[in-house]
Amino acid sequence: MKPAKITEGVFSLRVNHFNRELFDSLIPLPEGTSYNAYLVKGSEKTALLDTADPEKAEVLFDFLRDVDRVDYVISHHAEQDHSGSIPEVLRRYPGAMVVTNPKCREFLMTHLHLPAEKIIEVKDGGTLELGGKTLEFVYTPWVHWPETMCTWLREDKVLFSCDFFGSHLATGELFSEEHRVHDPMKRYFAEIMMPFRSNIKSHLEKLAKYDISFIAPSHGPVHCNTRFVLDLYKDWAVGEPRNKAVVAYVSMHGSTYMLVNRLVSRLQEAGVCVEKLNLEHMDEGRVAMSLVDAATIVIGTPTVLTGPHPKTVYAAYLANLIRPKAKFVSVVGSFGWGGKAVETIAGMIPNIKAEVLKPVMVKGMPTEADLNLVDELAAQIAQKHAGLPDCACVQSC
Ligand code: FEO
Repeated sequence: MKPAKITEGVFSLRVNHFNRELFDSLIPLPEGTSYNAYLVKGSEKTALLDTADPEKAEVLFDFLRDVDRVDYVISHHAEQDHSGSIPEVLRRYPGAMVVTNPKCREFLMTHLHLPAEKIIEVKDGGTLELGGKTLEFVYTPWVHWPETMCTWLREDKVLFSCDFFGSHLATGELFSEEHRVHDPMKRYFAEIMMPFRSNIKSHLEKLAKYDISFIAPSHGPVHCNTRFVLDLYKDWAVGEPRNKAVVAYVSMHGSTYMLVNRLVSRLQEAGVCVEKLNLEHMDEGRVAMSLVDAATIVIGTPTVLTGPHPKTVYAAYLANLIRPKAKFVSVVGSFGWGGKAVETIAGMIPNIKAEVLKPVMVKGMPTEADLNLVDELAAQIAQKHAGLPDCACVQSC
């Protein structure tokens, strides 16, 4: 494999993992993912920026087979999909030093047992000269671990952003295309970045002073349409939620399904964009993506024994974990003789700072009076959404 040239002396060493099925043993990867290292060659020194998941280390070392010398390994993030091959890099290039921030140094020592004397610490705004190539280190903590940082290559205007702005997309194309990268980037954002929206907001402000020509993340292709990427992140992290309701449900004998169908119809009639998700065969990534810009979340659940259906409990737990910016939540569902489905779901989502709209739980098969209550819920949601920006999704509306 040959490194792909981004600019003079700057190369992408992208390790594609086309057939990886899950990320974090959780999020399905319909288009695979990649672990990106980069090589920056100055007139005096050479730096390798990040490495690759050890599972695919042989691809990284194939890229490096004609590289005689690595002086520095820049480590932006200690998570093993980027740092895990550093020990082998140090074994093959014994003169190389690892360059990182103090927090990442601590993590590299605990996660990989790197020796302290092999690690050079850099400050926020600190620089490293390679000879005609100046690396400037930009701390960007909590995207998505506390030690994450970026590197700005001044002369070439390349921002090496690690996970920040990444996408779950394995591809042979060096540069991203907007229509191809949008969903893989959103899938990535939803799981990894969404809980850290306030950090992202301040990092976007910090990065505004840089005239960025390329964003080179550690997953997915390099972005040369940097405005598109920065605007998407701004919208997802900072923008108002959209006029969109996510209705995520399970139905066992059809009663909850009747309620959900009525709700979806009435919402659509009222001009609310709806993403209806059957949780029976859940794609956790799809669920997470749907929550990036939804103003309302409605869980549809039957009662199993005394509580909500376990698959809706799992979805509620996931939603609470990734902290979407929804403003309103509710529950619709059914029971046979009793139970605490609503209380259980409501108690599971303390991180979602949303107003709880009056739930509709019905005994047995819904009557016309029950369906009228669903109509009222739909009308209330539509009224609450007044003034919100239009839904941006294309696929599901
Ligand atoms: Fe791609 Fe947080 O590692």
